[in-house]
Amino acid sequence: MIQARRRFFDSGAFDPLRDLILEKGLRPEALDLGNSTAPEPQASSLQPKAFPSILDCGCGEGALSGDLPGNVIGMDISKEAIRHATKRYKQATWIVANGMRELPIADRSIDFILSVLAPRNTEEFSRILKTDGKLILGVPGPNHLIELRTLLNANAGDFEEKANEAAAKCAPQFAETNRELLSYSQLLNCEQIADLIQMTPIFWTSATEAKTRVLELTKIEVTISFVLLTLVGRDPGSRLRDQESRLQQLKIKSSRKQSGRGPHSLC
Ligand SMILES: C[S@@+](CC[C@H](N)C(=O)[O-])C[C@H]1O[C@@H](n2cnc3c(N)ncnc32)[C@H](O)[C@@H]1O
Repeated sequence: MIQARRRFFDSGAFDPLRDLILEKGLRPEALDLGNSTAPEPQASSLQPKAFPSILDCGCGEGALSGDLPGNVIGMDISKEAIRHATKRYKQATWIVANGMRELPIADRSIDFILSVLAPRNTEEFSRILKTDGKLILGVPGPNHLIELRTLLNANAGDFEEKANEAAAKCAPQFAETNRELLSYSQLLNCEQIADLIQMTPIFWTSATEAKTRVLELTKIEVTISFVLLTLVGRDPGSRLRDQESRLQQLKIKSSRKQSGRGPHSLC
Protein backbone atom coordinates (compact mmCIF):
# COMPACT_ATOMS: atom_id res chain seq x y z
CA MET A 1 0.00 0.00 0.00
CA ILE A 2 2.85 2.36 0.86
CA GLN A 3 4.50 1.71 -2.51
CA ALA A 4 1.16 2.48 -4.16
CA ARG A 5 0.84 5.76 -2.24
CA ARG A 6 4.35 6.73 -3.15
CA ARG A 7 3.85 5.99 -6.85
CA PHE A 8 0.54 7.86 -6.84
CA PHE A 9 2.07 10.95 -5.19
CA ASP A 10 5.06 10.75 -7.55
CA SER A 11 2.71 10.68 -10.54
CA GLY A 12 1.77 14.28 -9.69
CA ALA A 13 -1.95 13.65 -9.24
CA PHE A 14 -1.89 15.17 -5.73
CA ASP A 15 0.52 18.02 -6.54
CA PRO A 16 -2.22 20.69 -6.16
CA LEU A 17 -2.80 19.46 -2.59
CA ARG A 18 0.92 19.66 -1.82
CA ASP A 19 1.05 23.16 -3.31
CA LEU A 20 -1.95 24.31 -1.28
CA ILE A 21 -0.34 23.04 1.91
CA LEU A 22 2.77 25.05 1.09
CA GLU A 23 0.63 28.10 0.41
CA LYS A 24 -1.07 27.69 3.78
CA GLY A 25 2.00 29.19 5.29
CA LEU A 26 4.33 26.31 5.93
CA ARG A 27 7.10 28.59 4.79
CA PRO A 28 9.50 30.40 7.07
CA GLU A 29 8.56 33.87 5.85
CA ALA A 30 4.85 33.30 6.39
CA LEU A 31 5.26 32.97 10.11
CA ASP A 32 5.96 35.93 12.32
CA LEU A 33 8.96 34.74 14.23
CA GLY A 34 9.96 38.20 15.29
CA ASN A 35 11.89 38.78 12.08
CA SER A 36 9.19 39.06 9.44
CA THR A 37 11.34 41.11 7.05
CA ALA A 38 13.99 38.41 6.83
CA PRO A 39 14.48 37.00 3.32
CA GLU A 40 13.58 33.38 2.69
CA PRO A 41 16.48 31.36 4.09
CA GLN A 42 18.63 29.43 1.63
CA ALA A 43 19.62 25.86 2.34
CA SER A 44 23.22 27.04 2.71
CA SER A 45 22.43 29.57 5.42
CA LEU A 46 20.07 27.73 7.68
CA GLN A 47 18.99 29.81 10.62
CA PRO A 48 16.98 27.62 12.95
CA LYS A 49 15.02 30.57 14.36
CA ALA A 50 13.77 31.50 10.89
CA PHE A 51 12.37 28.05 10.27
CA PRO A 52 9.04 26.97 11.61
CA SER A 53 8.80 23.67 13.41
CA ILE A 54 6.25 21.45 11.73
CA LEU A 55 4.71 18.24 13.02
CA ASP A 56 3.01 16.06 10.42
CA CYS A 57 0.97 13.67 12.55
CA GLY A 58 -0.10 10.56 10.62
CA CYS A 59 2.43 11.49 7.94
CA GLY A 60 2.42 8.17 6.10
CA GLU A 61 5.55 7.90 3.98
CA GLY A 62 6.11 11.65 4.22
CA ALA A 63 4.96 12.67 0.75
CA LEU A 64 3.26 15.85 1.98
CA SER A 65 5.80 17.09 4.48
CA GLY A 66 9.13 15.38 3.79
CA ASP A 67 10.54 18.21 1.72
CA LEU A 68 8.80 21.16 3.37
CA PRO A 69 11.19 23.91 4.39
CA GLY A 70 11.46 23.92 8.14
CA ASN A 71 12.22 21.66 11.05
CA VAL A 72 9.88 18.85 10.06
CA ILE A 73 8.93 16.04 12.40
CA GLY A 74 6.88 13.30 10.78
CA MET A 75 5.06 10.86 13.03
CA ASP A 76 3.18 7.73 12.09
CA ILE A 77 2.10 4.53 13.76
CA SER A 78 3.30 2.50 10.77
CA LYS A 79 6.95 1.43 10.98
CA GLU A 80 6.98 0.63 7.29
CA ALA A 81 5.74 4.10 6.34
CA ILE A 82 8.37 5.76 8.54
CA ARG A 83 11.09 3.49 7.14
CA HIS A 84 10.22 4.73 3.64
CA ALA A 85 10.15 8.33 4.85
CA THR A 86 13.57 8.13 6.50
CA LYS A 87 15.14 6.70 3.35
CA ARG A 88 13.75 9.41 1.12
CA TYR A 89 13.67 12.60 3.19
CA LYS A 90 16.92 12.82 5.08
CA GLN A 91 16.61 16.27 6.61
CA ALA A 92 13.39 15.65 8.52
CA THR A 93 13.01 13.79 11.82
CA TRP A 94 10.81 10.70 11.64
CA ILE A 95 9.15 9.04 14.60
CA VAL A 96 7.14 5.84 14.92
CA ALA A 97 4.50 6.62 17.54
CA ASN A 98 0.82 6.32 18.21
CA GLY A 99 -0.44 9.82 17.57
CA MET A 100 -3.50 9.16 19.69
CA ARG A 101 -1.45 8.74 22.85
CA GLU A 102 0.74 11.25 24.66
CA LEU A 103 3.02 12.73 22.00
CA PRO A 104 6.80 12.66 22.63
CA ILE A 105 7.03 16.40 21.99
CA ALA A 106 7.56 19.31 24.40
CA ASP A 107 4.80 21.74 25.39
CA ARG A 108 4.35 24.80 23.16
CA SER A 109 7.20 23.83 20.83
CA ILE A 110 5.52 23.47 17.42
CA ASP A 111 4.60 26.24 14.96
CA PHE A 112 2.47 24.14 12.62
CA ILE A 113 0.70 20.83 13.02
CA LEU A 114 -0.35 19.16 9.83
CA SER A 115 -2.95 16.40 9.93
CA VAL A 116 -4.13 15.18 6.54
CA LEU A 117 -6.51 12.24 6.32
CA ALA A 118 -5.20 11.06 9.67
CA PRO A 119 -6.53 10.66 13.23
CA ARG A 120 -6.43 13.84 15.34
CA ASN A 121 -5.39 14.08 18.96
CA THR A 122 -6.68 17.57 19.67
CA GLU A 123 -5.74 17.65 23.35
CA GLU A 124 -2.15 16.80 22.64
CA PHE A 125 -2.11 19.13 19.62
CA SER A 126 -3.24 21.89 21.93
CA ARG A 127 -0.47 21.12 24.42
CA ILE A 128 2.40 21.09 21.92
CA LEU A 129 1.33 23.96 19.66
CA LYS A 130 2.87 27.38 20.32
CA THR A 131 0.32 30.01 21.33
CA ASP A 132 0.57 31.61 17.87
CA GLY A 133 0.84 28.28 16.08
CA LYS A 134 -1.57 26.84 13.53
CA LEU A 135 -3.26 23.51 13.11
CA ILE A 136 -3.86 22.55 9.49
CA LEU A 137 -6.32 19.76 8.80
CA GLY A 138 -6.93 18.09 5.47
CA VAL A 139 -10.14 16.13 4.95
CA PRO A 140 -11.80 14.73 1.82
CA GLY A 141 -14.02 17.30 0.13
CA PRO A 142 -17.44 16.92 -1.52
CA ASN A 143 -17.41 14.53 -4.49
CA HIS A 144 -13.88 13.34 -3.81
CA LEU A 145 -13.33 10.40 -6.19
CA ILE A 146 -17.07 10.27 -6.82
CA GLU A 147 -16.59 8.65 -10.25
CA LEU A 148 -14.65 5.73 -8.80
CA ARG A 149 -16.90 5.46 -5.78
CA THR A 150 -19.91 5.21 -8.05
CA LEU A 151 -18.32 2.50 -10.20
CA LEU A 152 -17.36 0.55 -7.10
CA ASN A 153 -20.62 1.19 -5.23
CA ALA A 154 -18.40 2.35 -2.39
CA ASN A 155 -20.36 4.41 0.06
CA ALA A 156 -18.06 6.80 1.82
CA GLY A 157 -20.70 8.56 3.85
CA ASP A 158 -21.37 12.21 3.41
CA PHE A 159 -18.11 13.89 2.42
CA GLU A 160 -19.93 17.24 2.56
CA GLU A 161 -19.90 16.92 6.32
CA LYS A 162 -16.27 15.88 6.87
CA ALA A 163 -14.93 19.41 7.29
CA ASN A 164 -17.71 20.42 9.69
CA GLU A 165 -17.16 17.26 11.71
CA ALA A 166 -13.42 17.92 11.89
CA ALA A 167 -13.95 21.54 13.01
CA ALA A 168 -16.54 20.46 15.59
CA LYS A 169 -14.20 17.84 17.04
CA CYS A 170 -11.46 20.44 17.44
CA ALA A 171 -13.78 23.14 18.78
CA PRO A 172 -13.01 22.70 22.50
CA GLN A 173 -9.36 23.58 21.90
CA PHE A 174 -9.25 25.27 18.50
CA ALA A 175 -11.10 27.95 16.55
CA GLU A 176 -11.31 27.73 12.77
CA THR A 177 -9.85 30.74 10.97
CA ASN A 178 -9.89 29.60 7.37
CA ARG A 179 -11.40 26.94 5.16
CA GLU A 180 -10.41 26.28 1.60
CA LEU A 181 -11.84 23.86 -0.93
CA LEU A 182 -9.49 22.37 -3.48
CA SER A 183 -11.30 20.56 -6.29
CA TYR A 184 -10.02 19.54 -9.68
CA SER A 185 -10.41 16.92 -12.39
CA GLN A 186 -7.60 14.51 -12.94
CA LEU A 187 -7.23 12.05 -15.77
CA LEU A 188 -5.84 8.81 -14.38
CA ASN A 189 -4.11 6.10 -16.37
CA CYS A 190 -4.41 2.41 -15.52
CA GLU A 191 -1.37 2.40 -13.18
CA GLN A 192 -2.73 5.38 -11.25
CA ILE A 193 -6.16 3.73 -10.98
CA ALA A 194 -4.61 0.56 -9.55
CA ASP A 195 -2.53 2.54 -7.04
CA LEU A 196 -5.43 4.72 -5.95
CA ILE A 197 -7.62 1.69 -5.32
CA GLN A 198 -4.91 0.11 -3.16
CA MET A 199 -4.30 3.22 -1.07
CA THR A 200 -7.88 4.31 -0.40
CA PRO A 201 -9.62 2.51 2.48
CA ILE A 202 -13.17 3.07 1.17
CA PHE A 203 -12.38 0.82 -1.79
CA TRP A 204 -10.98 -2.03 0.26
CA THR A 205 -14.39 -3.48 1.00
CA SER A 206 -15.74 -3.16 -2.55
CA ALA A 207 -16.97 -6.29 -4.31
CA THR A 208 -14.26 -8.12 -6.24
CA GLU A 209 -16.22 -8.00 -9.53
CA ALA A 210 -16.62 -4.23 -9.26
CA LYS A 211 -12.92 -3.84 -8.53
CA THR A 212 -11.99 -6.04 -11.49
CA ARG A 213 -14.19 -3.90 -13.76
CA VAL A 214 -12.45 -0.76 -12.55
CA LEU A 215 -9.00 -2.29 -12.87
CA GLU A 216 -9.76 -3.08 -16.52
CA LEU A 217 -10.24 0.62 -17.30
CA THR A 218 -7.40 2.16 -19.28
CA LYS A 219 -8.23 5.67 -18.06
CA ILE A 220 -10.79 7.61 -16.11
CA GLU A 221 -11.31 11.26 -15.24
CA VAL A 222 -11.89 11.67 -11.50
CA THR A 223 -12.73 14.54 -9.19
CA ILE A 224 -10.11 15.12 -6.52
CA SER A 225 -11.42 17.23 -3.70
CA PHE A 226 -9.95 18.21 -0.37
CA VAL A 227 -10.89 20.74 2.26
CA LEU A 228 -8.03 22.36 4.14
CA LEU A 229 -8.95 23.90 7.48
CA THR A 230 -6.71 26.28 9.39
CA LEU A 231 -7.30 26.51 13.12
CA VAL A 232 -5.69 28.39 15.98
CA GLY A 233 -5.64 27.55 19.66
CA ARG A 234 -8.32 29.21 21.74
CA ASP A 235 -7.07 31.74 24.24
CA PRO A 236 -5.48 29.58 26.96
CA GLY A 237 -6.58 32.12 29.57
CA SER A 238 -10.22 31.68 28.62
CA ARG A 239 -9.81 27.89 28.54
CA LEU A 240 -8.40 28.00 32.03
CA ARG A 241 -11.24 30.23 33.19
CA ASP A 242 -13.77 27.79 31.61
CA GLN A 243 -12.12 24.86 33.40
CA GLU A 244 -12.07 26.73 36.68
CA SER A 245 -15.71 27.69 36.37
CA ARG A 246 -16.67 24.08 35.52
CA LEU A 247 -14.68 22.89 38.54
CA GLN A 248 -16.40 25.48 40.70
CA GLN A 249 -19.82 24.30 39.50
CA LEU A 250 -18.88 20.66 40.21
CA LYS A 251 -17.76 21.62 43.72
CA ILE A 252 -21.03 23.46 44.35
CA LYS A 253 -23.05 20.48 43.08
CA SER A 254 -21.14 17.98 45.20
CA SER A 255 -21.37 20.14 48.36
CA ARG A 256 -25.15 20.42 47.79
CA LYS A 257 -25.39 16.64 47.50
CA GLN A 258 -23.39 16.15 50.71
CA SER A 259 -25.53 18.58 52.68
CA GLY A 260 -28.73 17.16 51.13
CA ARG A 261 -29.55 20.63 49.89
CA GLY A 262 -29.95 19.95 46.20
CA PRO A 263 -32.04 22.43 44.22
CA HIS A 264 -35.22 20.35 44.86
CA SER A 265 -34.70 20.03 48.62
CA LEU A 266 -34.72 23.81 48.89
CA CYS A 267 -38.42 23.95 47.96
C1 LIG B 1 -4.60 8.03 4.73
S1 LIG B 1 -2.98 8.00 5.39
C2 LIG B 1 -2.52 9.70 5.24
C3 LIG B 1 -1.03 9.88 5.20
C4 LIG B 1 -0.58 11.33 4.95
N1 LIG B 1 -1.09 12.23 5.95
C5 LIG B 1 -0.99 11.77 3.57
O1 LIG B 1 -2.01 12.46 3.44
O2 LIG B 1 -0.29 11.42 2.63
C6 LIG B 1 -3.30 7.88 7.14
C7 LIG B 1 -2.04 7.68 7.95
O3 LIG B 1 -2.36 7.79 9.34
C8 LIG B 1 -1.60 6.83 10.04
N2 LIG B 1 -2.21 6.54 11.35
C9 LIG B 1 -3.37 5.90 11.60
N3 LIG B 1 -3.59 5.83 12.93
C10 LIG B 1 -2.55 6.47 13.52
C11 LIG B 1 -2.18 6.74 14.87
N4 LIG B 1 -2.95 6.37 15.89
N5 LIG B 1 -1.05 7.41 15.12
C12 LIG B 1 -0.24 7.81 14.09
N6 LIG B 1 -0.52 7.57 12.79
C13 LIG B 1 -1.66 6.92 12.51
C14 LIG B 1 -1.58 5.62 9.10
O4 LIG B 1 -0.53 4.73 9.41
C15 LIG B 1 -1.43 6.31 7.75
O5 LIG B 1 -0.08 6.46 7.40
